[in-house]
Amino acid sequence: METGTTFSMPRIGDAAPSFTAVTTQGEINFPQDYAGSWVILFSHPADFTPVCTSEFMTFATMEKQFAEVNCKLVGLSVDGLYSHIAWLRTIKEKIEYKGMKDVEVTFPLIEDITMEVAKKYGMMMPGESSTKAVRAVFVIDPKGVIRTIIYYPLSLGRNFDELHRVVLALQTADAFSVATPADWRPGDDVIVPTAGSCGVAKERMDSKDEMTCHDWFFCTKPLAKETIFATILKK
Ligand code: BEZ
Repeated sequence: METGTTFSMPRIGDAAPSFTAVTTQGEINFPQDYAGSWVILFSHPADFTPVCTSEFMTFATMEKQFAEVNCKLVGLSVDGLYSHIAWLRTIKEKIEYKGMKDVEVTFPLIEDITMEVAKKYGMMMPGESSTKAVRAVFVIDPKGVIRTIIYYPLSLGRNFDELHRVVLALQTADAFSVATPADWRPGDDVIVPTAGSCGVAKERMDSKDEMTCHDWFFCTKPLAKETIFATILKK
């Protein structure tokens, strides 16, 4: 563990720290260029490494699924631009993995040799590595606010279905003023805000409407997948 060095870390609810960076798709101003879209900013430890390669192939293959819910992807590692370009070309031209081949990564991959962005976002964890970023994920909303942060160590590849589920759950919570229970997937019941008064608590427990109350503070209601997608896809 490095000593005497302080790394800042943004928190859920904070405005996403801004930066300008060189990427494989040209310069970006973050998060300003992404205003109005959801965006997943994620770091990976290094180019030309196996776990990262499997992750990029999976994420690139799912890019359309994320675009459908107005979510863009931006990657980062502390490698340089030419390493990024060479690695992405190798992925497209040579790598076949789990039925994926000829995979083109068209989302921007930030070069961050100076670690300026990685440090700003708390992606460097010296106990894990002082030269490589860990696998950090920041889900940022259309107003540029950080809504979810997830970290994985170097050896553990991310679950990209889970990241898609996270975006859908956040969008559902925003659009319908509900919360989502453990393992929620679109189509499952959602949680209505906890009763804020004794009167509402009693009403809920006595009510025979579509709500199911497991107790006064824990009520769920159905929310059809079609309703969610009709609302989210309109945005
Ligand atoms: C990988 O992506 O395979 C990897 C990168 C850094 C450390 C360990 C694994």
